[in-house]
Amino acid sequence: MCGIIGITSSKPVSSAIINSLRKLEYRGYDSAGIATLSEGVINEVKSEGRVENLEKNSAIKGMLGSVGIGHVRWATHGIPNTINAHPHSSETVSVVHNGIIENSTILKKYLISKGHKFKSQTDTEVIVHLITEYLKEHDLKNSILKMLNQLHGSFALGIIFKDQPDLIVGARRGSPLAVGYGPNENYLGSDSYALKSMTNKISYLNDGEFCIIKKDHVEFFDKEGSKVNKKVLELSTDEQNYEKGDFKHFMVKEIEEQPTTLKNCIKEYIDTINNDINIYNFPWDLKEISSITLIGCGTAYHSCLMAKYWFEELTKLDVTIDIASEFRYRNNRFKKDNLYIFVSQSGETADTYAALDLCNKNNMKTCSVVNVIESSIARDSNFVLPIHCGPEIGVASTKAFLGQMLVLYILILKLASLRKDLEKNKYVNKIKDLKLLPKLVAETLLTETKIQAVSSTFTDAKGSMFLGRGFSYPIALEGALKLKELAYVHAEGYPAGEMKHGPLALIEDGMPVVVLAPRDSYYPKTISNMQEVIARGAKVLLITNKSKDEVLSENIWETIEVENTNDDLLPFLLTIPLQKLAYYSALKKGYDIDKPRNLAKSVTVE
Ligand code: F6R
Repeated sequence: MCGIIGITSSKPVSSAIINSLRKLEYRGYDSAGIATLSEGVINEVKSEGRVENLEKNSAIKGMLGSVGIGHVRWATHGIPNTINAHPHSSETVSVVHNGIIENSTILKKYLISKGHKFKSQTDTEVIVHLITEYLKEHDLKNSILKMLNQLHGSFALGIIFKDQPDLIVGARRGSPLAVGYGPNENYLGSDSYALKSMTNKISYLNDGEFCIIKKDHVEFFDKEGSKVNKKVLELSTDEQNYEKGDFKHFMVKEIEEQPTTLKNCIKEYIDTINNDINIYNFPWDLKEISSITLIGCGTAYHSCLMAKYWFEELTKLDVTIDIASEFRYRNNRFKKDNLYIFVSQSGETADTYAALDLCNKNNMKTCSVVNVIESSIARDSNFVLPIHCGPEIGVASTKAFLGQMLVLYILILKLASLRKDLEKNKYVNKIKDLKLLPKLVAETLLTETKIQAVSSTFTDAKGSMFLGRGFSYPIALEGALKLKELAYVHAEGYPAGEMKHGPLALIEDGMPVVVLAPRDSYYPKTISNMQEVIARGAKVLLITNKSKDEVLSENIWETIEVENTNDDLLPFLLTIPLQKLAYYSALKKGYDIDKPRNLAKSVTVE
């Protein structure tokens, strides 16, 4: 998704802006651009495609100016081309924008009637002309306030001005924005990652705030224009996790580091000596919670679905789950004794944030399970459970999925034990099993060769299906999502028992079907469903766990066996071959694995 960078300094900024734009590439984008102010003139250079193309643009070389803004664009209004790339400029100002201006059509009509000429198809350009118009009669701060008052929608903005040689304005509504502090220079960024190579001192803008950044001073204001004091946070300076190292792609690095990330997370929550779980400062009395709602998008939603199965198995709590983009617009029944749990890797997903905001406005109990602890979702939740898996750069979520499931499972075990829904000895045994999980994931990661071999069948297929029952059903959905987003192969995740209610009609000779059938309580039923698809010509890749008992079925195309653990934890192990299947299928096709087409890492527009 779009990314913003701004730098005001005493030295030329264009190459530092380009370096930071490279850091934002992981978000997924289709064009890039930069604008600097030099001797009272705003210069703009933009390119379609990668930041690399921008760097090659001859106009960049020798681009002067000690104040500037840069942007990577993920198209919303207008096709991805150079004209629509940001920044957008008039003679007076230049603007970069993340988000969507919902009333841009009305504003554009008004501005055209005032004589403004538009060059692009974007919604962003209205911002340029609005400020240009207001600056004719108002000072800078009042022009910003008036412009912000006109905009509907969600946005983060970075703006430079012809008449302000060392000044950047940042403004935020909905989309995240951070300010960084450096030696005799200051920065604006759409996430702390973009700023990390320059500083570890950061402040975040809250919703509705704007800031005026000069090279030696930053001021923050609320939506009425009153000054706001900000804390300066110190981020960890660990850069290592942001590099690919010897791996070909971030995705495969992130798959391979899952034993370590799970171990790190277990260390944070599990008292390994007493076999207990530590969740400190949980802000509610257990009597105050009788039901749970889990909310997320995409992969994070799949971990919510997984949690529903565990909650129902291990506790007596009522549980519902919701897709954030649906929840936020439905006529929800808010209940005082309900705990709302928001799951998000980035902590910035616009729909998930809006669902959280809605719950906060209704005074509900809100808890978030996030990876980025400085994120908006983490900051605005009553209680945060971090997943401790380090930066996830590959657009397709892998280690964060396992991390989300792990933290949700830990929370569920703790609640089950405190509520006495789960007997003490069972609780202790489950914690003992959990401690072994990183090692089992490491061993399962070795099932490599077979996955590489079968992946070409999926690569060449018109479509494929992923089937599972019970605990394996959310994993089937996740496996299908990974394959479609990375290898661009149509893949459907389905509950195995639903096949005969329609989708069985899709099965034809040679169609690859993944069947997740670990030897849990659903095993015999899933095997029957598997036979039904085999009988109709499907090429079945069976994923089960190791056992001395043979699988009682004929004509299975290939079988992959994961390690053994208790039924609750098998979903973690079943996920591994599916992540690799998607990876190798995309690799065979030569696709851009870390940045699949049309997708973005941090989905900050709805
Ligand atoms: C799929 C994927 C997405 C995200 C979704 C939510 O591989 O990564 O489906 O899971 O966009 O993102 P977060 O977790 O950042 O809220």
